[in-house]
Amino acid sequence: MKVLGVSGSLRADSHNTLLLRGAAELLPAGVELELWHGLRDVPPYDEDSDVEPAPPAVAALRAALAGADAVLFATPEYNSSVPGQLKNALDWASRPLATNPLRNLPVAVVGASTGAFGAVWAQAELRKVLAATGARVVEGEVAVGHAHEKLAAGGALLDENLRDQLLEVTDGLVEAVRMRTAAMAA
Ligand SMILES: Cc1cc2nc3c(=O)[nH]c(=O)nc-3n(C[C@H](O)[C@H](O)[C@H](O)COP(=O)(O)O)c2cc1C
Repeated sequence: MKVLGVSGSLRADSHNTLLLRGAAELLPAGVELELWHGLRDVPPYDEDSDVEPAPPAVAALRAALAGADAVLFATPEYNSSVPGQLKNALDWASRPLATNPLRNLPVAVVGASTGAFGAVWAQAELRKVLAATGARVVEGEVAVGHAHEKLAAGGALLDENLRDQLLEVTDGLVEAVRMRTAAMAA
């Protein structure tokens, strides 16, 4: 089973990317998390360019989603919302709406910020956007406030509560994939 990890931050030392690395350590045997590195390359959404063939970075994004069994998003909060670069990528991924690669795909959202609230508003907005694309948004929230104190370089989780919360979300995501696979085979 392959889980695509999408960080909403482009920063090299991103806490959100570290959070995904930490989540990767919690996945059961047989489930791998692959970090997606293409966010920086996705051009601004332009409906005139949203034709076949798609811009290469967009085609790569759509292929990465189509090749994943699930997606785990970790988002920062920029001005109380989803970072523009992540929203932009999802706008590309959402088209065409009826057949987009997010449709029915199990996804989960977590988030980290250096402030107290752990990107809760951005997470809520990201869940709303993902639901609009047709993705199957798995319940559960991990809001990592004061992220610089809870994540070590490499993604080691320094907080036991954080580990438990993250495990609940990753378990829920894996379970959603299993249920979807079973439903498709029936
Ligand atoms: C443009 C900008 C806007 C921000 N707005 C918020 C905000 O509304 N709420 C919040 O908690 N943190 C805000 N922050 C702080 C980020 O959450 C913090 O820098 C976080 O560590 C970024 O995630 P990253 O470490 O994954 O890059 C903002 C940071 C930037 C650069």
